[in-house]
Amino acid sequence: AQSRGETLHAGNGGEIHQTAGGDVPVMTTQGGMPVSDDQNSLKAGARGPTLLEDQHFREKIFHFDHERIPERVVHARGYGAHGVFETYETLADITKADLFQRAGEKTEMFVRFSTVAGNKGSGDLARDVRGFATRFYTKEGNWDLVGNNIPVFFIQDAIKFPDLIHAAKAEPDRGFPQAQTAHDNFWDFISLTPEAMNMALWIMSDRTIPRSFRFMEGFGVHTFRMINAEGKSTFVKFHWKPKQGLQSVVWNEALKLNGADPDFHRRDLWDAIKAGDYPEWELGLQLFDEKFAEEFEFDVLDATKIIPEEQVPIRIVGKMTLDRCVENFFQETEQVAFQTGNVVPGIDFSNDPLLQGRNFSYLDTQLKRLGGPNFTHIPVNAPRCPVHSFQQDGHMSMRNPRGRANYEPNSWGGEKGGPREAPEAGFSSYPEEISGQKARVRSETFADHYSQARQFYLSQTETEQTHIGNAFVFELSKVETMAIRSNVVAHLRNVDEDLAKTVADGLRLQEMPAAAKAARPTIMDLAKSDKLSIILN
Ligand code: HEM
Repeated sequence: AQSRGETLHAGNGGEIHQTAGGDVPVMTTQGGMPVSDDQNSLKAGARGPTLLEDQHFREKIFHFDHERIPERVVHARGYGAHGVFETYETLADITKADLFQRAGEKTEMFVRFSTVAGNKGSGDLARDVRGFATRFYTKEGNWDLVGNNIPVFFIQDAIKFPDLIHAAKAEPDRGFPQAQTAHDNFWDFISLTPEAMNMALWIMSDRTIPRSFRFMEGFGVHTFRMINAEGKSTFVKFHWKPKQGLQSVVWNEALKLNGADPDFHRRDLWDAIKAGDYPEWELGLQLFDEKFAEEFEFDVLDATKIIPEEQVPIRIVGKMTLDRCVENFFQETEQVAFQTGNVVPGIDFSNDPLLQGRNFSYLDTQLKRLGGPNFTHIPVNAPRCPVHSFQQDGHMSMRNPRGRANYEPNSWGGEKGGPREAPEAGFSSYPEEISGQKARVRSETFADHYSQARQFYLSQTETEQTHIGNAFVFELSKVETMAIRSNVVAHLRNVDEDLAKTVADGLRLQEMPAAAKAARPTIMDLAKSDKLSIILN
């Protein structure tokens, strides 16, 4: 690897000039006034007091006082980089999305990797899901594929998200733990939320302690739609496959790394890119139709389930290369505002109730986090295609309508009249037929919470299974309330009896709890029927 340090510029005879001149620019106030002295405030006499009239002093302190913005309510700690996506082959038969029309097409990207629960200053090696947020600056607008490094999620309905996150973050009375899943509130919530059981197995696996961002997979999680020029819809699940391979550390290493270098992951990404060792991921699609969706054992709108690659193989369609570090962490990584709602013509949502909630949440939270409705004007958020609308004003507006008209329809022709809608080329939602009674419900098809957890556990190697067992024991051993420990083991009995026993023994539980009552027959109950053969085999 290259040396990390940059050469310091020593001026004439080893002295560094502290005043402007030559190629050293003149320091100014924000108003552009040249500054003569940045070391001393303006005083009445050598020993003060400081004078209110010192505009430079007041402006400097005022600006400093307002440097902080709210950290993200989740995924507060993250690291970003720029890159490029290359399309391998045309997907015109499946989607009209412009970026997938031509083989060899290059699309600029911005990516931010993150942990979920810890605050902005937490350690990189926490056992946690990693955010894998990607933005494609396409010719038809920004497409944000805002994913994670785990293909499933804790909950099925966005209305539970505030509860999940409250339970996962620091407990409200004591204000700790800051970045760990090892506490009562978190496991209390999990033990009372059987739908989280598949995710619980994934997060206790090695995937939540990745070696670095470069060695993680990424997943769009939800089922989306791709729409072609004829209006035909195909369901799709998105995957990012790291060319570097998939690697994790073990828990012992994670603990040491977190202590020795809590910035280990961000340093790794920075160093690799600066050294020209650009990380790459291939984009893969699982494509399927309505018929498959109807026949699949689980509901494709349920974000707690995957579609096994054995059932729908992944088709690799392009490659992302991260080749440029940010120039300024705050301006780019902190101010980037990914939104699941940012799609382009040819890509559409499904009715996954988690995705539907996310589409509201990101826009809403960013209004507050970035201080007003004009955060799309910030360069990292601005599309790299023409943008014209009649939205105007608000704090920090950089992009108001030009010309006379700021409304439509209008009678002003040409440039004066401003932009007009494009019935053919514009985005139109897939005209899915919908019927049903208005009610607060959860579909019966979302009710099997254990089968895929078992499938995941059984798919792991013996070593990986041992790590999962150890992780449950470690995390639950930090839970002070014994009943919560038992309640989690009660669920594990529906996943795998050996795992449940390992965890119960590791926790020295006095007695084995009865298996949790499942909303639907568990995999064990169904073992004799052939309905779930795909899961058992
Ligand atoms: C932030 C992924 C579910 C609300 C993020 C980020 C990622 C992500 C990667 C970080 C974005 C960045 O780097 O700036 C996911 C995934 C989910 C999920 C994969 C489920 C499959 C949800 C749900 C909600 C939600 C259900 C709310 C209903 C938020 C909010 C932020 C966020 C408010 C902060 C955004 C910001 O301040 O810019 N999520 N999330 N997420 N997520 Fe999610």
